[in-house]
Amino acid sequence: KKVVLAYSGGLDTSIILKWLQTEYDCEVVTFTADLGQGEELEPARKKAEMMGASAIYIEDLREEFVRDFVFPMFRANAVYEGLYLLGTSIARPLISKRLVEIAEAEGADAVAHGATGKGNDQVRFELAAYALNPDIKVIAPWREWDLSSRTKLIDFAEKNQIPIAKDKRGEAPFSVDANLLHTSSEGKVLEDPAVAAPDYVYQRTVDPRHAPDEPEVIEVGFERGDAVSVNGEALSPAELLTKLNELGGKHGVGRLDLVEGRFVGMKSRGIYETPGGTILLEAHRGIEQITLDRGAAHLKDELMPRYAELIYNGFWFSPEREMLQAAIDASQGHVTGTVRLELYKGSVRTIGRWSKHSLYSEAHVTFEDDAGAYDQADAAGFIQLNALRLKLLAARDRRLK
Ligand code: ARG
Ligand code: SIN
Repeated sequence: KKVVLAYSGGLDTSIILKWLQTEYDCEVVTFTADLGQGEELEPARKKAEMMGASAIYIEDLREEFVRDFVFPMFRANAVYEGLYLLGTSIARPLISKRLVEIAEAEGADAVAHGATGKGNDQVRFELAAYALNPDIKVIAPWREWDLSSRTKLIDFAEKNQIPIAKDKRGEAPFSVDANLLHTSSEGKVLEDPAVAAPDYVYQRTVDPRHAPDEPEVIEVGFERGDAVSVNGEALSPAELLTKLNELGGKHGVGRLDLVEGRFVGMKSRGIYETPGGTILLEAHRGIEQITLDRGAAHLKDELMPRYAELIYNGFWFSPEREMLQAAIDASQGHVTGTVRLELYKGSVRTIGRWSKHSLYSEAHVTFEDDAGAYDQADAAGFIQLNALRLKLLAARDRRLK
């Protein structure tokens, strides 16, 4: 028996590795992805070797992550429950895709992950895996084992010579998931939603109060709906997001404290930091303002919550997500141009936008003489016909009063 494990190199997934070998009696192949979480991956290789993994995969997926997952999602301006930019949700399908591909290459019949039985991530990992391989088996140790407390986990680790970082001996302070798009923190000190998160929870943005006193103006260039440059410099997708993270982090942009509805039914409280993504969303909306037709823009905004919910709930690999994606992508052909933004103490604002593809017509909108571009008399009939049914309603109400 052989299983491919999504392995971070941390304590929990190391315990899972050992548990799969001893309790499940299977060979374990580890897969560790660099999604821009900002951690060294070589220690994960050493640990996996030491624990007798039968093969070790370590892959830099940053470009694929941003190009094929983050960017398509940002074309939709996707936001869950009005605020969450889906930083964890969008990473799971890519991890599952590689788990399934590696399982096929290694002749493994199962994949395993370290998500708990209470959250969204188990659903995302597993729906994606089944969508890509209907015969794959999924092992979710957190739903099966009896290591139900921190103490039991530590005991298991000690019994099996799994190295434990000093700060992991006591209660873990909270659970963190990070990648190029965001850092999310949940649990423990954050569990009471009435109580403000302590400062040390924030990891990649400065406190807006300590951000520079001078605003910083930047320019983001777009081509067909995707960001392609920052301040005139052409960048690859991952380079671009890295650059925006740096700029946003420095100005304290993209902090969010949110109570959200998990797919499994309960509410949970999380702290999110999405510095580059917050800039990217504002910039993308900025360029759409001048390049998207109103009808297309409003339809996109109606579809968006549905699209965001599909990603949140783990249905990236589904026909309905692909249908919505096709509609969204079809709207982006002219979303090309440049947006100028100001970063200042936790905020990002569009202050200018321009494009060869612009639909904005100063000739039409000007309050000065428009030289006949628009006949104001046309508006009178337009208003009369739109008012007709409102007048009939009002007349009836008067009659019956
Ligand atoms: N609540 C977020 C989501 O469902 C993040 C979940 C993972 N975060 C974590 N800190 N373990 O997408
Ligand atoms: C987990 O339960 O493993 C993390 C939180 C989530 O998936 O929602």
